[in-house]
Amino acid sequence: MKAKYEPPLIVRHSLAGVNKLGSIPAIRPMSSIDGVRIEELVVAYGSPLFVFSENTLRERVRELRGELGRRFASFDLGWSYKTNYLSAVCRVFHQEGSLAEVVSGMELRKALAAGVAGQQIIFNGPAKTAADLTLAFEKRVQVHIDHLDELALAETVAEGLGIVPEVGIRVSQSDLPVPTWDRFGFHLESGRAIEAARRIVRSGRLGLRSLHGHIGTFIPNPDAYRMAALAMTRFARQIESELGARITTIDLGGGFASHNTLHAQYLPGEEATPSFSEYVEAIASGLEEGLDGAETPRLVLETGRALVDDAGVLVATVLGNKRLADKRRAVIVDAGVNILPTAWWYRHDVRPAQEILGTAEPTVFFGPLCMAIDVVRDRVMFPPLRVGDRVVIRHVGAYNVTQWMQFISERPNVVMVSPKGQHAIIRKAETLETLLLQEQMPAWL
Ligand SMILES: Cc1ncc(COP(=O)(O)O)c(C=O)c1O
Repeated sequence: MKAKYEPPLIVRHSLAGVNKLGSIPAIRPMSSIDGVRIEELVVAYGSPLFVFSENTLRERVRELRGELGRRFASFDLGWSYKTNYLSAVCRVFHQEGSLAEVVSGMELRKALAAGVAGQQIIFNGPAKTAADLTLAFEKRVQVHIDHLDELALAETVAEGLGIVPEVGIRVSQSDLPVPTWDRFGFHLESGRAIEAARRIVRSGRLGLRSLHGHIGTFIPNPDAYRMAALAMTRFARQIESELGARITTIDLGGGFASHNTLHAQYLPGEEATPSFSEYVEAIASGLEEGLDGAETPRLVLETGRALVDDAGVLVATVLGNKRLADKRRAVIVDAGVNILPTAWWYRHDVRPAQEILGTAEPTVFFGPLCMAIDVVRDRVMFPPLRVGDRVVIRHVGAYNVTQWMQFISERPNVVMVSPKGQHAIIRKAETLETLLLQEQMPAWL
């Protein structure tokens, strides 16, 4: 085959890849996942393709459980369904002992349908309906109340069922080194949280047993957790001494950073993200200080992205190359932001799936959408790619296969690779037929 001619181009040497430590990130190909060749997967299941490593899922959750086990006699992890509720992914976490953490009626019913017992489900979220609460109370789900109207509704539902369910309240905090998420829960410092606790205990129609807080997401600062744990523990003790209600569970939600790199972040996530042990130590020291010798409650964490991001990659195929007006090399791949919304948050690590030769130069990866916003990775040092080459976009396990959009094209296959090298589809690609099934034509047309 005749080699394709590309006119020579002088590219100014760029220091864009140098970080504080002086290293230019090496472009290491990633040609297999847990021993299975990426090319084999693409031939079997098509491109683009999400691939999840069962091994990495288990390793991550075992590492966090191990750290918690070293510091806490009683703890639970609640798998945050909205982070990734593909049934196979949830099953791995449930097999590893995680509860289900759900934030909608749909997620609640999904967990129940998967066989998770009601007592093993935590129900958060700001929009629970009477039907959701009825189902939750009947199944003895651990409900966390978000606001006063929901509290009134929960009391009415409980009364209707003739039971006094044990619940928790979601608490938001301001005195933390992270932006305040006071749109969820009852605010601590302004006194809303203690008012809600008084209301629950005095009316006696619900039992107050747990406090829940989720201070934000992708928080690379373990000290924020120490401070949150300290404030929550002190609040639990205030409730006990003032109202006589014993708080048996403190749930600190999720929010640990994954190994991704935020757009505004300086060091790459793989160097900057704190370890699980740093987060757990911070929480343990906050709790210890707040308890001041009192009995330690059960600790719950709802860690999402930090458990699943590393386990997922998106494989894409090069469709074409072009030079932009500013001479940057642009590569068009077949995976866009419709299936990778986290590209708006992160500078995802992109690797070739095969050895590539040539000089690395600043490259932008565009997706296939006919929309200017479809930038998968802006400005990354990359050698030239040919049409048909594969690239692997890393750390995409969280929030993509739940927040993706069916826009312009069908959503692709998602597969899982087992530790023994087996692989199978865990979510089938959509087809035009799948999409048309949802549509209806009005009779007058
Ligand atoms: C209540 C609650 N718990 C857990 C999570 C998981 O958070 P993350 O993926 O940041 O760990 C979320 C996500 O926003 C949440 O809202």
